[in-house]
Amino acid sequence: MLLPVIMAGGTGSRLWPMSRELHPKQFLRLHSLHSMLQETLKRLDEIDVGEPVVICNENHRFMVAEQLRQIDMLSHNIILEPVGRNTAPAIALAALNAIAQGHDPIMLVLAADHIIKDITTFHKAIEAAMAYAAGQSLVTFGIVPTGPETGYGYIQRGENSGESSVASSVKRFVEKPDLATAQTYVDSGEYFWNSGMFMFRAKRYLEELEKFRPDILDACRRSLTDIECDKNFINVNYDAFSSCPDESIDYAVMEKTTDAVMIPLDVGWSDVGSWSALWDVSEKDGEGNALTGDTFLHNTHDCYINTDEKLVAAVGVENLVIVNTKDAVLVIDKSKVQDVKKVVEHLKKHK
Ligand code: GDD
Ligand code: MG
Repeated sequence: MLLPVIMAGGTGSRLWPMSRELHPKQFLRLHSLHSMLQETLKRLDEIDVGEPVVICNENHRFMVAEQLRQIDMLSHNIILEPVGRNTAPAIALAALNAIAQGHDPIMLVLAADHIIKDITTFHKAIEAAMAYAAGQSLVTFGIVPTGPETGYGYIQRGENSGESSVASSVKRFVEKPDLATAQTYVDSGEYFWNSGMFMFRAKRYLEELEKFRPDILDACRRSLTDIECDKNFINVNYDAFSSCPDESIDYAVMEKTTDAVMIPLDVGWSDVGSWSALWDVSEKDGEGNALTGDTFLHNTHDCYINTDEKLVAAVGVENLVIVNTKDAVLVIDKSKVQDVKKVVEHLKKHK
């Protein structure tokens, strides 16, 4: 059985002011009539998968349940983290929960906040990955890089793996290199972006976690001992989980394992990590403007404008991001969008 495990506990702070602590990116309708979480699940409609597991912060429990209900996919396994401890523990909770229910499923671990345009090719890659994940391998999906992005992990491709000319072993995993290093990776043609999507058996992941980070596994085991489950929600013990180290799967397991296999993925993927990434994948008018809401433009090009209520008029500007919400307006140069974090840091300190 293929078990979708959806990680939905991130904060998505680079999409401020739309993405907020109480309403982060994965729950927003950014790109379609459905939220990114809903899109992630609907993308699996045509393949044979079990009931998904969603792991999120407990503050978002009702929003997640409601969004799943809206697309007829209410899960009985919504795992509620009392605090965020990053993806290695989140995936461990999902694996331990499945094993406690008497299974050792192949887990398809997906982020809840990615855009994928070519779904048919995505499904083919999932199928190809299953043959590897059914054995000992930990599969990662690698995206052909289009530039030296520093917000991604990089995978150096090794030899072709097994019979397939598609999959390869992994020579090296490097999480978020600096710009100069990223540029050498892209120039070499040997590196792929880590998509943050993975596939492996539940027990296999836990074996590797035990080998490299037994402290994380131990805290996660304790977090699921003597817990109460109500309806669709699985609560996680606060004290035990708070004591768990904060670590991504990339650092905790993927960088260290010798059993990683990479399946390349060329599917129009984006993790929508910034307003400019959203501009990239949005439909544009003849002047390169991506517009949502009520706008008037004159002599304006290559802008991203998103407005909730008020009319936004832009005259004689280019390469701007303007985002207007009920209580905040962001105006930022499209090439500086990573600096939104400065605003978020400021607000954390002063509000
Ligand atoms: N349940 C849960 N708990 N989910 C989490 C947590 C957590 O504590 N932290 C993050 N997530 C979810 C996010 O919602 C997102 O869907 C996914 O896990 C990845 O987390 P990000 O915080 O968005 O990671 P990143 O973008 O910095 O880096 C990862 O993804 C990149 C591709 O998008 C890494 O895997 C990179 O190597 C990769 O290139
Ligand atoms: Mg991300």
